[in-house]
Amino acid sequence: MPELLPVLDRDAIARKVDDVARQISSDYRNADLVVIGVLKGAFIFMADLTRRLDVNRMAIDFVQLASYGHKSDSSGKIDLLKDIEIDIRGKDVLIVEDILDTGLTLKYLKQHLLRRHPLSVKTCVLIDKKERRRADVNAEYVCHIAAEGFLVGYGLDYAESYRNLPGIFNLKL
Ligand code: IMP
Ligand code: MG
Repeated sequence: MPELLPVLDRDAIARKVDDVARQISSDYRNADLVVIGVLKGAFIFMADLTRRLDVNRMAIDFVQLASYGHKSDSSGKIDLLKDIEIDIRGKDVLIVEDILDTGLTLKYLKQHLLRRHPLSVKTCVLIDKKERRRADVNAEYVCHIAAEGFLVGYGLDYAESYRNLPGIFNLKL
């Protein structure tokens, strides 16, 4: 049986999301903001974060990406399964991603979005696994830094399971 070791319960997550939402609200108070969630992992984080943002104007969109074997192979092939629908030209963009790990996914997404000439592109992640970074990218807003292990819950999956758990757990297979 896989074991689930608690990492963050729902109250701890809520406090961290609140903190980051306050920073973002203060940085983007007068902005014309487009928040772009990365499906599927960020869906719960995106819902909680956007409801806590206090900004002048905010639109919401999503992308979905698939990455193939890039944990062990340097090609880092990434496919765009769903693109944004909103025109981001001249707008401030905030990417909302579940986990920043090697950074290859975020690097691809930033390059993709920058081709549409936004005013700015920054990133907010729920979890930053700094130690495994391979691409030269970082997130401006981070809820939680994780040292090691495979995390599930609060949107994060292992083979499409566990996304619905209210807390975040370290999965021991
Ligand atoms: P990377 O930064 O390109 O390596 O990819 C990050 C993506 O890998 C995240 O968006 C997650 O979908 C997935 N991922 C990385 N680590 C974990 C984990 O511990 N649990 C669940 N998904 C993970
Ligand atoms: Mg993801």
